[in-house]
Amino acid sequence: MEITFKFQRGGTRAQPEYVDYQIDVPPEMTVFDALVAVRETQDGTLAFRGNCSVGFCGDCTLSVNGAQKVTCLVTVGKTQKDGVITVQPIRYAPVEKDVMHDMRKFLWDKVDVFAKGVVPNGGHPVTDEELRPVRKAMRCTTCGLCDEGCTVIDVNLDFYGPAALTKLYRFAFDPRDGITAERLREGSEVHGIWDCVHCWEATEHCPFGLEPTHLIMDTRDRAIAHGIKSGYGNKMLERHYDAFEESISRKGWLDERSVALQTYGGLIKGGLHTLPLGLRALRKGKATLKPHYKRPGADRIRKIFDRYNRANASLRKEKQR
Ligand code: SF4
Ligand code: FES
Repeated sequence: MEITFKFQRGGTRAQPEYVDYQIDVPPEMTVFDALVAVRETQDGTLAFRGNCSVGFCGDCTLSVNGAQKVTCLVTVGKTQKDGVITVQPIRYAPVEKDVMHDMRKFLWDKVDVFAKGVVPNGGHPVTDEELRPVRKAMRCTTCGLCDEGCTVIDVNLDFYGPAALTKLYRFAFDPRDGITAERLREGSEVHGIWDCVHCWEATEHCPFGLEPTHLIMDTRDRAIAHGIKSGYGNKMLERHYDAFEESISRKGWLDERSVALQTYGGLIKGGLHTLPLGLRALRKGKATLKPHYKRPGADRIRKIFDRYNRANASLRKEKQR
């Protein structure tokens, strides 16, 4: 079939500059192979990434007709619209030339943080069952499509992102590894697992069905089982979560004043910090000086927390084994 590749060779994402290339290729040819054919037969200066041609190296991710794809996994026939395929860089990686990205800052450097190999834990026979979840994460090709879809990266490029956190999962769940807690602490720091907003876009975007959002949620469970909570490494956040839990579990509803005071370091430090905001809220009728009271039924809420804490304590013992 006759295809026109509109290939971005300059400009910006908002104002791209395209060069058109026509080529006759079979509809079942992959977009990546068709681009290689254009480069080989028409213009040897075209710059784009890709190595394996079979979806293995994760290197050929591009935006084609506005959707981010591993281009060696999609065919020309299914991608073209009215005989046209528009090729652009992906959104977040800087461009070196044409549509060739510099993936270091966007992806590779972040993945490297969690790519320390298995540190043997002394060794015990590992069952197939134990290795199954790890094997799934090992199929990640670091194609970056999940990061492209990530709504947190959209507003904060420093977020490690689902691809790097899939690498964390791969080692944190390896039954042969001896530094699981250390890995989980590292992944729980700022920009790590707790910054995920579980929008499930990463799971939607992964072309291999690895469900990276689920992997992040499982990694959080494992972190909790090791006594590592949301806000780890950030004292203010840790105080905030503790105060929040204490307020709900003791009184049955949120005591915003007490949570604010404890978050900022207690009565004196927190009081000084929150005084201007508190006065403004009082003036606007958004705060009250009435004492916070215990809601009817609060004891039932307390029991839910007690039940959870008991269950979590035994789960923790089990998962730490
Ligand atoms: S988890 Fe899936 S989408 Fe994300 S980098 Fe790995 S293979 Fe690509
Ligand atoms: S060229 Fe390797 S994944 Fe596409």
